[in-house]
Amino acid sequence: MNEKFGVRIAGTGSYLPEKVLTNFDLEKMVDTSDQWIIERTGIRERRIAPENMVTSDLAVEAAKKAIEDAKILPGDIDLIIVATTLPDMYFPSTACIVQQKLNIRKAACFDISAACSGFIYGLAVAKSMIESGPFKTCLLVGAEMLSKITNWKDKTTCILFGDGAGAAILTRSETNKILSVYMEADGRYSNILELPAGGSRMPASEKTVKEGLHFIRMEGKEVFKLAVMKMLEASRKALEASGKKIEDLALLIPHQANLRIIEAIAERLTLPREKVFVNLDKYGNISAATTIIALDEARQQGRVKTGDIVELIAFGGGLTWGAAVIEL
Ligand SMILES: CC(C)(COP(=O)(O)OP(=O)(O)OC[C@H]1O[C@@H](n2cnc3c(N)ncnc32)[C@H](O)[C@@H]1OP(=O)(O)O)[C@@H](O)C(=O)NCCC(=O)NCCS
Repeated sequence: MNEKFGVRIAGTGSYLPEKVLTNFDLEKMVDTSDQWIIERTGIRERRIAPENMVTSDLAVEAAKKAIEDAKILPGDIDLIIVATTLPDMYFPSTACIVQQKLNIRKAACFDISAACSGFIYGLAVAKSMIESGPFKTCLLVGAEMLSKITNWKDKTTCILFGDGAGAAILTRSETNKILSVYMEADGRYSNILELPAGGSRMPASEKTVKEGLHFIRMEGKEVFKLAVMKMLEASRKALEASGKKIEDLALLIPHQANLRIIEAIAERLTLPREKVFVNLDKYGNISAATTIIALDEARQQGRVKTGDIVELIAFGGGLTWGAAVIEL
């Protein structure tokens, strides 16, 4: 068997649209309050992309920053993976559109559908494609435009989500720095967090539009319970596989869905507050983009530096969940 190549994250970038939608703005749209939203979720505001932008535009902005940070040229990229819940269209893949927009001539491109766990799933795929060759440089993006599948009349979901993108450049390296990636799913719960219409089961029709079936539908309480349990499990399994202990972590970057979920996880992992990254107050839940945006922000803010060990954990529709232990 061929010897495996090492893989590392050579650069990161993120992009958040300028428009801010605050809880006070939402008070004018649905029967909710700033206080309720903060107490139940920890979210204060979220970013909303302009009408004329599409998911690939967000992805490209984040990708440009990651390319600059990694000090490579777009032409060095030979693999593009986009994790998204809402691609530009069903086909071609958003990764192919990103390739075209970045003017990259020779690369393999595809999307990953794992909802909020998409970036972690993407890490696992990119890692194995680089370590076994022939790919050397992967652009891995988590990009979401959830505002376009949010029912702005449904107070139980519209307070939660936002738009944005994060990107990482993964390259071959002498020593492997993606220490472990754990992934799992349980399709028995596929109906508790879903976009009911638009696929082959319920193609778009006048009826599906009228009944609001092209919007995210969620059973919040059930999702909440499973999110805590499964992210804890994933965190422990990824740590075990990496040979690291919880004390080795410089920072835990959990999926940014709800502050109460994050606090429950931190408490059970016995991690002090300063070792847990939180930015959901500013952005809400950006699904597949949350963990990579958070990692990029943590790097920019100097919360982590080269050589630090971080763990990313995510959970989302599918249900899917996963975790990755990375040496920066
Ligand atoms: C969505 C979520 C914040 C709701 O919080 P909750 O404590 O479970 O609240 P419930 O759904 O039980 O609703 C409690 C009450 O608040 C009301 N309510 C729901 N949303 C509200 C809002 N935005 N503003 C005011 N009241 C609201 C409900 O109508 C309900 O009222 P009732 O008791 O009179 O029927 C929470 O369940 C959650 O975060 N779940 C996980 C979501 C998630 O992470 N999804 C993505 C995973 S990737």
